[in-house]
Amino acid sequence: MKRMLSLVVTTAALLLALPASAQFAKPEDAIKYRKSALTVMGTHWARLAGMAQGRIPYDAKAAADNAAVLEVAHKLPWAAFGADTQSGDTKAKSEIWKEPAKFKEAEERLFAEVPKIVAAARSGKQDDLKAAFAAGGGVCKNCHDNFRQ
Ligand code: HEC
Repeated sequence: MKRMLSLVVTTAALLLALPASAQFAKPEDAIKYRKSALTVMGTHWARLAGMAQGRIPYDAKAAADNAAVLEVAHKLPWAAFGADTQSGDTKAKSEIWKEPAKFKEAEERLFAEVPKIVAAARSGKQDDLKAAFAAGGGVCKNCHDNFRQ
């Protein structure tokens, strides 16, 4: 049983370490995957932003629940931007592959801000959420302006 478990863990670790392109059978699958992940991330981000700004009634439990999804979802889209996914049903700009360091930097900014927003959403205080969005709410636009059509 223990051996079985360690095999599962090793396999999972290997899968995570594989390059993105190797994880998708076809480029279309990767594009579909990243758009779905972005939609999920965007949905829960928008609910939190709405609560921060008072457009949606503040609810501490709902904030924490949305934060839990955002915490996982914001990590998902980026492995699906392999070099073979530049064309198709996508709004991704070619700059993503021409300026990979700049795209990576925009990703890193997201990774820096989301944990702060998640922590603020878990504090149970609307003011914390408001402050976190005021400070970090621009991370999406920062990337979209340069890398999305
Ligand atoms: C590092 C760059 C980057 C960051 C940061 C980023 N996005 Fe995007 N986003 C993109 C790109 C590129 C696309 C276009 C993807 C495609 O069409 O293949 C996109 C598309 C989307 C879409 C449309 C998905 C669809 O179905 O076509 C939504 C919604 C979205 N982003 C929301 C967000 C939100 C909300 C944030 C901030 C929490 C965010 N994004 C942060 C790069 C980024």
